[in-house]
Amino acid sequence: MRAWRGLRRGPAASSGPAAAFSSSCPGGGERRRRAWETSLSPLERVRRLLAPEEAAAAAAGADAAPAAGAGRGPLRVGELVLAELGRRRRDALKLLCRLTAGAALAIPGGLLPHGDIVGRLPGQVVRTASGGRLLVRRPSLEEYVLLMARGAAIAYPKDVSAMLMMMDLHPGDTVLESGSGSGAMSLFLSRAVGSKGRVVSYDVREDHHNLAKKNYRQWRASWEIGHMEEWPDNVDFILKNITTAAEDMKSVTFDAIVLDMLNPQAALPVIYPSLKHGGVCAVYLANITQVIALLDTIRTCKLPFLCERIIDVTHRNWLVLPAKIKNCKSIQTVETQENTEEEPQQKEHEEIHFQDQAVLKGSEYDESLSDSVETYSSVPYIARPSYWQDAHSAFLTKLRKFQRPLS
Ligand SMILES: C[S@@+](CC[C@H](N)C(=O)[O-])C[C@H]1O[C@@H](n2cnc3c(N)ncnc32)[C@H](O)[C@@H]1O
Repeated sequence: MRAWRGLRRGPAASSGPAAAFSSSCPGGGERRRRAWETSLSPLERVRRLLAPEEAAAAAAGADAAPAAGAGRGPLRVGELVLAELGRRRRDALKLLCRLTAGAALAIPGGLLPHGDIVGRLPGQVVRTASGGRLLVRRPSLEEYVLLMARGAAIAYPKDVSAMLMMMDLHPGDTVLESGSGSGAMSLFLSRAVGSKGRVVSYDVREDHHNLAKKNYRQWRASWEIGHMEEWPDNVDFILKNITTAAEDMKSVTFDAIVLDMLNPQAALPVIYPSLKHGGVCAVYLANITQVIALLDTIRTCKLPFLCERIIDVTHRNWLVLPAKIKNCKSIQTVETQENTEEEPQQKEHEEIHFQDQAVLKGSEYDESLSDSVETYSSVPYIARPSYWQDAHSAFLTKLRKFQRPLS
């Protein structure tokens, strides 16, 4: 008690959300304060470190409309926008479109004119004519690569993250990629090495080569409009079979190499001389038998690579949701407030079982645990692994180039 009194300051303590909450509390009157009522927000903590005039300026800045630039300004014609519908269900719909004057987005139940999105701040909810609600915002790079046009299957973002870590890429690095595919990995590589770095990306198929370039151009163009700064123009897409590129390799040294192609072992003899000693070649393969073929080639051809790791990346999706109590029978039937997910058998609601029935009985429920201030207004939660898990995508192999001792 002493601690929070020391932190409270004058009139602010009797107005604002804490006071409003207090008057609506069951029982009202004097009660213990919860930790969040007495702690300072990060912004408030910073303000208290500043001189009064600087604090006033900071306060004015925080209340002002978000500054344009750096992706915070309103959505503009020409940029890519993500519209999200129906976050309550597993099959939430995400639509990607490029804002165009006079165009409309086809959504369930009708059309939403792009004009209704232009000028909104990202993160705003837009009401449609049919009464639906859409959240509109700029897509992340992860969302873009999942939604952009695809020729070849893309390297999935969860695997790309692990591969970027394997290669230990830094801004300014030069990296070789084969194949370009749809350009998903190329975009992540482009971001990792930045404007001072370089990505050289080979593909043997013209349609894939062209699509990778198109997807890359589209993202860059949108970025420039939305962020008012240039995305690095640092990827060289080359239409060529990597196994025939020995001449090209002579003049460069790569900090890292990433292979996502059939028979990557066929590329190794051509590319390994251009990888710096100690550098990593990360290989993306769907089947473990392909990994064995790769390692067997390294062994039989005595290629200077050590296999450091073979991993597959699994993300376990969980469901954690507040539950709304509908009745208090021996088995509680509850309806989740959002993100209701359907069990494969199309069940409409979630059943949860409680060991302590007292917890669930109406107002008793609220007060029975109020002993501990943190649990005063707690509600039952559904918390379990989701029915819906991502399938296997790839095995990632980390090969380290070594230098043989001079004999
Ligand atoms: C699965 S895709 C790569 C996807 C890419 N990583 C992405 O994220 O979009 C494999 C690509 O490797 C290309 N490829 C296969 N063999 C090749 C070779 N010998 N040289 C260059 N590219 C090759 C294919 O044409 C295909 O586009």
